[in-house]
Amino acid sequence: MADDGSARHLISLDDLTDGAVRDIVERGATIARRAATATGATGSGLAGTVVGIYFRRTSTRTRTAFTSGALRLGAGVIAYGPGDLQLNTGESSEDTGRVLSGMLDVLVARTADDPAEMRVWAGQRRMAVVNAMSADEHPTQALADLTTLTLRFGSVEGLRVLYLGEGNNTAAALARGLSRYPGARLELRTPPGYGLAPEVHRRAAATAARGAVVRERHDLADLPRDVDVVYTTRWQTTGTSKPDPDWRAVFAPFRVTAEVMERAPKAVFMHDLPAHRGEEVSAEVLDGPAAIAFEQAENKMYSAMAVLEWCRGAY
Ligand code: CP
Repeated sequence: MADDGSARHLISLDDLTDGAVRDIVERGATIARRAATATGATGSGLAGTVVGIYFRRTSTRTRTAFTSGALRLGAGVIAYGPGDLQLNTGESSEDTGRVLSGMLDVLVARTADDPAEMRVWAGQRRMAVVNAMSADEHPTQALADLTTLTLRFGSVEGLRVLYLGEGNNTAAALARGLSRYPGARLELRTPPGYGLAPEVHRRAAATAARGAVVRERHDLADLPRDVDVVYTTRWQTTGTSKPDPDWRAVFAPFRVTAEVMERAPKAVFMHDLPAHRGEEVSAEVLDGPAAIAFEQAENKMYSAMAVLEWCRGAY
């Protein structure tokens, strides 16, 4: 809960202060480190609370991360699939948020649609609303990724990340999150016509920490060699389609291959998963020694636990 007792929502990273981003990331890293000890990733911080998990779109990681994380923290969980709520039969978003807020403490939702709907659900003070992926942003993915970077490098400050592929909702969240750290540099190389929305650049610039930079180009010339991370995502983001029938040809040069990784020999490879080997990344890279994509996936649960605790005002 916030200081005034109202629910803390997480719909966009733009809504969070720098301090909140850092607190959630540090807390996720602490839980991840604890998971490796005898204590494990469990607790009682959410005992007596009920978390709703409403996923209108497919998910393996995010849905499981929040469900398992909530259970590990002692919460009860109610899961809703795409056909379950009366939203399908015309009940308004306003009425849905009002009703659920009397019964749930947190609602974790994936819509892959306009986030305005989540903001309507969040128009009350009792139930926290967490965006588990909307059309424009995947904020809990970025928080998990920043947690992974913290665990791997000790700090996110000054890290240099090369992102290849579509400027999708994961890329948008990464730009919004990384730019909060002093000296962090995110260079995106996105296919022409598939870049970040201008609003993402504008917001990242407006909230950037000292020395943090987000740059984007639509070609592959002069790829930076001195990077800590090469990052990509699958080309067909959940809930989206591409009107151009030839889009694969436009994307093909942006595939992460062994040649790309050889240009950046010190870099780890990150991928939010699910992956399509042979499309956005070669099997050699995803299953190779530089890849940390599967520890990145596990960290989503520790980060989800940190998000849930933050929503409930535990820190
Ligand atoms: N990265 C991610 O959001 O995975 P899921 O779609 O499986 O949740």
